[in-house]
Amino acid sequence: MKQIFGVFILALTSFFVSAEDGHNLWLRNSKSKPVNVVCLKNSPTLTIAKQELQLGWQGEASASISLKIKQDKAIIGNGFKISKNEIQANTGFGILYGVFELLRRQQTGEEIIPAIVNASYERRILNHWDNPDGSIERGYAGGSIFWRKNNSFEVTENDKKLWQEYARANASVGINGTVLNNVNASPLILSKEYLERVKAIAEMLRPYGIKTYLSVKFSSPSLVGGLKTSDPLNPDVIKWWNDKIHEIYNMIPDFGGFLVKASSEGQPGPQDFGRTHADGANLLADALKPFGGIVMWRAFVYSATDEDRAKQAYLEFMPLDGKFRDNVIIQVKNGPIDFQPREPFSPLFGAMKKTSIMPELQITQEYLGQSVHLVFLATMWEEFLKSETYQEGSGSSVARCTDGSIFPQKHTAIAGVANIGLDTDWCGHQFAQSNWYAFGRLAWNNQLTSEQIANEWLKLTFSQSNSSSDQSGTSDDWNDHFLKPVQKMMMDSRETAVNYMMPLGLHHIFAANEHYGPGPWWAPKGMRKDWTPPYYHKADSAGIGFDRTQTGSNAVSQYHEPLGSQYSDLKTCPEIYLLWFHHLPWDYKMKSGKTLWDEICYHYDTGVQQVREFQKVWDKVRPYVDPERFSQVQSKLREQCINAQVWKDACLLYFQQFSHRVIPFEIERPVHDLNELIKNDLKRH
Ligand code: GCU
Repeated sequence: MKQIFGVFILALTSFFVSAEDGHNLWLRNSKSKPVNVVCLKNSPTLTIAKQELQLGWQGEASASISLKIKQDKAIIGNGFKISKNEIQANTGFGILYGVFELLRRQQTGEEIIPAIVNASYERRILNHWDNPDGSIERGYAGGSIFWRKNNSFEVTENDKKLWQEYARANASVGINGTVLNNVNASPLILSKEYLERVKAIAEMLRPYGIKTYLSVKFSSPSLVGGLKTSDPLNPDVIKWWNDKIHEIYNMIPDFGGFLVKASSEGQPGPQDFGRTHADGANLLADALKPFGGIVMWRAFVYSATDEDRAKQAYLEFMPLDGKFRDNVIIQVKNGPIDFQPREPFSPLFGAMKKTSIMPELQITQEYLGQSVHLVFLATMWEEFLKSETYQEGSGSSVARCTDGSIFPQKHTAIAGVANIGLDTDWCGHQFAQSNWYAFGRLAWNNQLTSEQIANEWLKLTFSQSNSSSDQSGTSDDWNDHFLKPVQKMMMDSRETAVNYMMPLGLHHIFAANEHYGPGPWWAPKGMRKDWTPPYYHKADSAGIGFDRTQTGSNAVSQYHEPLGSQYSDLKTCPEIYLLWFHHLPWDYKMKSGKTLWDEICYHYDTGVQQVREFQKVWDKVRPYVDPERFSQVQSKLREQCINAQVWKDACLLYFQQFSHRVIPFEIERPVHDLNELIKNDLKRH
């Protein structure tokens, strides 16, 4: 009887969980209460702020809330002052951010204590790697929301609706800028027709406080301007950029500026003309300066030399410290290689003292299972932002080195490579939405914990409004049986991926260029060495790992002391970075007492077991999730599990050829054949 009753309750709960496709993201706004909004001023942004309050109010029914624009020196830029019944700000955008904060607190049941809330970074920017033909480099959620191949320049009502929804979602988490096109930029983007479309996009984003930026190709003056050269010191080139920038600001008066990938991976740059990165960046900075625009100049540079790739950005940029204009920000990827599942922070953070630096994170999961694997990235970003650089002694975290707390920067910013596409749920995986959300929240407040972000996001995205819940749509039952286990799964998910992909500091051992499945063997003839996994893992009969100590590439010397020595010394090097910094024998004794080989085996196996646990966690929460979102996640977890097994088998069987050791018998045996795996390089379905 008890059982039948249980099934009945379960069926009843599922009945109340209405269908959702994920399009509304974390802004589901169910069951709002009436509210009386008092606001003496008018603007498109304030109108949005009022509407949002009416759509989402969960406070006391028919309460009054006042929105007040009043200058206050303690409120910085578009920050705000918040209390239960009043939001005060210097600007309309500040009011809008305050409204979203208030609504979020109401919906998640977080206390509303009167406070001034300022952003950590002045510019919080998404980078879209979208191409003019509508494709997206490293995009896993459908085509571009900005560009398309056919009817490229027609702006439809549907386009406008989508851009508005996009703007609203970004504003709700404080994102205030977007780069609309790929860093591998097509020069076409600067043509009149494309700029017209940029203008149309900018108009939809503007009321939400979002500035538009463009990636530009450094050789545009010769490619589309008909000039013989793109030499940054050539007067015709200078004039061409001045004119072009003038044209842009005539169309888009609040245009944000340029993002530039130069002299990197085949992209043209100032070095083609014997000039430096500073010459290139300053050319654009000077032209943008009168309009208040900025240049985000990427430090993602490396060449096919023998020099350790992890060292190259530092070697190229450090000598230029102090040579950039004050409206140039050097945009640096979190790690020294390339968005790997785990890297130590790039030594450029905390190194440059006279140049503004901004972090670049990757929201799209190029190297973390793309839109198939459930990986919550906030834990990785928290680890990165809290990393100690020792720039000015202890307390010099990456967060503080980039937000202007340690060295004043003229501009502060942070960028995230977007995971957004035309898929109904925007991101291709319900849980990939949490990474978009998390980026915005951390960009606004770089001290937030990933735990808090996961908790907020789950409440906003999955809470139900049924009779047994409180006003925030949660109940004890929901908290215990949905929130807690799912939050734990999110919190463990990145470490899980590290376990089954690249534990203990291994990196870049992906197959081919897709960066999805394992390929520690992958080294086609004629391929640059630093694009192949054997360059990174260096497995041989003596051991495994990349020696970056003084006896190796000496990359450790690029970190401030005592960090360089800590990484160098086996006694103090954190085991999570062990094989990043050291080449070690297979029977090296780990802290656990196991040999290195055994430890590697256990990590891969643990990763697989963890994904199996995630499957159980998710299956158990079925009564609390609408059927559509439930089954999407369930089937993605199945594929993740199959993939994790492939990762484990591929890496263990491949490395075993060098270690000549058995896989510990407590561990389940591989189920795949190595030769088959090599033949079939794992592809996404
Ligand atoms: C990675 C990625 C490329 C991208 C590059 C970049 O290497 O695989 O697709 O262009 O990063 O950040 O410029």
